[in-house]
Amino acid sequence: MNSPKEYIQKNKERFIDELINLLKIPSISADAAYKEEVLKTAEAVKMRLEEAGCDLVEIEKTPGYPIVYGEKIIDENLPTVLVYGHYDVQPPDPLDLWDSPAFEPVIKKTELHPQGAIFARGACDDKGQMYMHVKALEYMTKTNQLPCNVKFMIEGEEEVGSESLGWYLERNAEKLKNDVILISDTGMISKDVPSVTIGLRGLSYVEVEVTGPNRDLHSGLYGGAVANPINILTKMIASLQDEDNRITIPGFYDNVEELSLEERAKMAEAPFDVEAYKKSIGIKDIHGEKGYTTNERNSIRPTLDVNGIWGGYTGEGAKTVIPSKAYAKISMRLVPNQDWKEITELFKVHFERIAPEGVHVKVKPHHGGQGYVTPIDGIEYQAADLAFQETFRKSPIPQRSGGSIPIVSLFEKTLNSKTILMGFGLDTDAIHSPNEHFGIWNYLKGIETIPYFYHHFTKLKA
Ligand code: BES
Ligand code: MN
Ligand code: MN
Repeated sequence: MNSPKEYIQKNKERFIDELINLLKIPSISADAAYKEEVLKTAEAVKMRLEEAGCDLVEIEKTPGYPIVYGEKIIDENLPTVLVYGHYDVQPPDPLDLWDSPAFEPVIKKTELHPQGAIFARGACDDKGQMYMHVKALEYMTKTNQLPCNVKFMIEGEEEVGSESLGWYLERNAEKLKNDVILISDTGMISKDVPSVTIGLRGLSYVEVEVTGPNRDLHSGLYGGAVANPINILTKMIASLQDEDNRITIPGFYDNVEELSLEERAKMAEAPFDVEAYKKSIGIKDIHGEKGYTTNERNSIRPTLDVNGIWGGYTGEGAKTVIPSKAYAKISMRLVPNQDWKEITELFKVHFERIAPEGVHVKVKPHHGGQGYVTPIDGIEYQAADLAFQETFRKSPIPQRSGGSIPIVSLFEKTLNSKTILMGFGLDTDAIHSPNEHFGIWNYLKGIETIPYFYHHFTKLKA
């Protein structure tokens, strides 16, 4: 294969402009007010896939937002790479913390991105990373170097739990048949330490509602004599972790996969600077489950976090009131062998059981998904390793990530193929946060590395 470097150098301004145009469309899947924008983004992705050389591109209806399917089949006897990504983005809130508007992309230099980074919601998660694949395809088709078949499946509901994907996979298993799934929707350790994500955590997401008295009460007349739902809820939440920061839900750890000391020692070889970590997020000390390192806590260990909590009076000034209701949204990150539906049930039973008589508790399950681990002894991983060697001059470090992409385990179950997670974002790129950005160097390096994956995978498969 010829090096893609020259092609990228010649076309990089256009590659950046095209991504910026995509980032201008606010495809916020969580907010129904943006429905038209989400649909418009699907159209834009379709057009770009056609331009990049797909022979067939369809916008496929689902019960939710559509899936953009594209393909270029050059020879039925050659292997097929299925690329997955998402064109929807997280809501940009809180808006006032953005230095420039979330959907008006700007390029700015930062300490970690001296060549500039594109600041916009979705820049890294996942429009920028998804679009690297579109441009890599363009390179391979325009220079006659596509070595195998390729299929694209770009969805619009990832940030809200990929509800329609199971439905779509069931109906399209034959059409989506492939030899490997390639995804760029994770990160890398740093610009000079490439890594391949070999694990994702599962997720169980619940909302709880605690009801006390049948109406808000005067906190003087009733205070001290009835259970305050907010006091109770916060106490209940606090009791979910013990002094070692272990989760107290009975049965929670029953199926947790314990890593061997060798595996943990291998993990500890990945470079990690705890001081830089603390500094980057402005904390004085780290925190977590006793007996585990920071990198273990956020990848191979399950967790429980409150994502939001509300109730009572939060307006200006003071209002003396005992609220009738209190609410919280809680997420649990799970590790291999924990079943998300089982964990959701364990949570529900436990949370209802620990509630005092004076309140009524309702637990409403939201979405969830299973964790995933990619084997590193297969040709899928080998191809990724070789691809990184071509463009970084060194082997990537296999790394488990703490994030979740529930669709990956579903892929394995329904399509029976392995997934390679080739991420090019940095943890500091602020995905889901204000001022999300994606380094231009990372973007172009991704476009450069991806064709080598195709090349090596096709050779290894032959
Ligand atoms: N791309 C992220 C997941 C991710 C990011 C994994 C970085 C590993 C490293 C994805 O878009 C995401 O945000 N997933 C959600 C889960 C989903 C069910 C809403 C998450 O992890 O919170
Ligand atoms: Mn993503
Ligand atoms: Mn995301």
